[in-house]
Amino acid sequence: MDPNASGLTKRLAEAGQSHLLQFWKELGPKEQSDLTLDLQGMDFQEINGFFKKTTETSGSSNQEMDARLEPVPREVLGSVTRDRESLKDWEEAGLHCISQSKVAVLLLAGGQGTRLGFSYPKGMYDVGLPSHKTLFQIQAERIFKLQQLAEQKHKIKCCLPWYIMTSGRTMQSTKDYFSRNSYFGLDKNNIIFFQQGMLPAMDYNGKIILENKGKLSMAPDGNGGLYRALRNQGIMDDMERRGVEFIHVYCVDNILVKVADPSFVGFCVKKGADCGAKVVEKTNPTEAVGVVCKVDGRYQVVEYSEITLATAQKRSADGRLMFNAGNIANHFFSFSFLRDVVQKYEPELQHHVAQKKIPYVDTEGQLIKPDKPNGIKMEKFVFDIFQFAKTFVVYEVLREDEFSPLKNADSQDAKDTPTTARHALMSLHHRWVLNAGGHFIDENGRHVPAIPSLKDGTDLPIKCEISPLVSYGGEGLEELVKGREFHATLMIDGNGVHELVKNGV
Ligand code: UD1
Repeated sequence: MDPNASGLTKRLAEAGQSHLLQFWKELGPKEQSDLTLDLQGMDFQEINGFFKKTTETSGSSNQEMDARLEPVPREVLGSVTRDRESLKDWEEAGLHCISQSKVAVLLLAGGQGTRLGFSYPKGMYDVGLPSHKTLFQIQAERIFKLQQLAEQKHKIKCCLPWYIMTSGRTMQSTKDYFSRNSYFGLDKNNIIFFQQGMLPAMDYNGKIILENKGKLSMAPDGNGGLYRALRNQGIMDDMERRGVEFIHVYCVDNILVKVADPSFVGFCVKKGADCGAKVVEKTNPTEAVGVVCKVDGRYQVVEYSEITLATAQKRSADGRLMFNAGNIANHFFSFSFLRDVVQKYEPELQHHVAQKKIPYVDTEGQLIKPDKPNGIKMEKFVFDIFQFAKTFVVYEVLREDEFSPLKNADSQDAKDTPTTARHALMSLHHRWVLNAGGHFIDENGRHVPAIPSLKDGTDLPIKCEISPLVSYGGEGLEELVKGREFHATLMIDGNGVHELVKNGV
């Protein structure tokens, strides 16, 4: 359709974005109609407004931020190590809520996984476990098992719905993947896919960047795009219809994630919290995790890029880092809090600005791949709603039990890779076997020590994998392993206990 006749040319001119049609005459009919469709769906005044607001407010330096920070006070903190006597109560409270179908899980899976260099959704990644299960499958099976545990304990049928946020880039492949795998045994009516929004990349003058002559450079609007998507896609209504009262929100890339963790849910519910965050102790000042803290008296996660090294290195009297509540992107929201956010507070959330090297076509129509940042992407962050919570709590768990994210491809010295994720899961499962009274023996029949030995300078874990369908968090293993000796690779799944290879430490 002619952009003059449709009013598009005028709308773009009013918004200072006329350059988006500069190659119009060179485009074929299909490209013209695709571009028209993309442009028609965009609110340029709103996008210009986002640009103006973010660039006006992003000038405050990390030094200025430092002065406004305070650590999380002890009274809002629960800890799996320091509050052992309460753990059972919390877990039971959480399981009870699950049995009443009051809990939902919500997965943020709209990211592009660019650091991993994998062109499919990250949840489809196989980190090379003996079973070759993907992150999605592991999470699905944990949900299945947890539902079963709640049903068995409370003798009632329950449902633990799984909301999965995707983006334009990941929606179809994610849905196809689940369908091809028969939803991993879950009821497909209880897996609800929805799509977050996208925003264009802009240059430093607020002009939208063209990726090629007929296509805008677009990216998902950050994991905080969740709140807008929940509203636009009618997800809050779906939750209300199902009677969901508590929601566990998490990110796709943590292989150890305890989906709908009953202890975390129970802790938050018992504290009367409307919002909670799970953390691990940050021990290395330069680790790439955000920290939960207070900024000007309000709860917030401050990303590693937003504080100075001097502040990240500050220590308390006990020698620990002062800002040590490392965000592992596991959040708890009450339904009513989430509804308030979606209905009232969402527009108040500011976009964060990321300066990026964004490939673009120049005015001559040449494709340029810049070697230094040439523009920005704007993203909202999921945790930016903490500031609106009336009762905010923090739950500290052990890193080795619950946090091993997959961010980067394998390479020497890289952190958070498929190898580190695989090792973390196998060493957790190794410990579960030991705790349940089983032992591992090497090829000479000797007991393998509980702490893996250093072989060839590499810290290799015992190869051991336990299906989530057998155990959600280490429970129920005694009858399978107590007093028995195993060679690695040990697999425990629905078919029983088997050793795959008789040599492999
Ligand atoms: C995130 C946290 C960081 C935390 C770290 C722990 C945010 C903003 N930051 O950082 O504080 O310490 O995890 O691993 O949460 N996603 C979307 N849509 C998007 C962008 C991302 O759904 O538009 C999803 C991704 O699919 C992923 C999650 O959000 O599941 C986290 O995204 P990622 O970019 O990996 O965040 P980090 O920078 O690692």
